[in-house]
Amino acid sequence: MTLMWRKQLEIGDETIDVDHKYLICMINTVELTMRTPEHRDLLPATLEQLVEYTHAHFRREEAIMLSVNYPRYQQHKEQHQRLIQELDEIQKKIQARGEGEFSQEEISDLANLFRHWLLEHLVKEDMLMKPFLAGK
Ligand SMILES: [Fe+2]
Repeated sequence: MTLMWRKQLEIGDETIDVDHKYLICMINTVELTMRTPEHRDLLPATLEQLVEYTHAHFRREEAIMLSVNYPRYQQHKEQHQRLIQELDEIQKKIQARGEGEFSQEEISDLANLFRHWLLEHLVKEDMLMKPFLAGK
C-alpha cells in the first residue's frame, strides 16, 4: 500500500516538510522495487539512498531545532539515533534475503515496518516541534 502525504503531517517548516514528503516517496520506491521482480536488482541502491537521505534529513532537522532553541532537542536527537539503528536492522533483513524474490507476506511485513518507522516519529515527535517553528 502506497504511503500518501497528507496536510495533517505538515510541520510548518518548508525544509522539514519537503524532506518528509521525499522520505515518504523513497519508502514507496523501496516497496515498489521489492514488489517488482524485474527491478529486484535496484533494491540495494534504492535502500542505500533512503538510508543516506534519512541521515541528511535528521542532521537538517537537528540544526533547525537548535536554531529555535527547541527544548526537546536532546530527546528528539536520541530518537533519531534509535530510528537510524532500526533502519539499519530493516536494511540488514532485506539484504539477508539475498537475490531471491519476496513473498507477499514478506513485502507486507517490511512495508509495515517502514510505515511504522517513519510515521510514528513524524506524527508523535516531529509534530511537537510545530509550535516552536511557527513564525520562524
Ligand atoms: Fe524528527
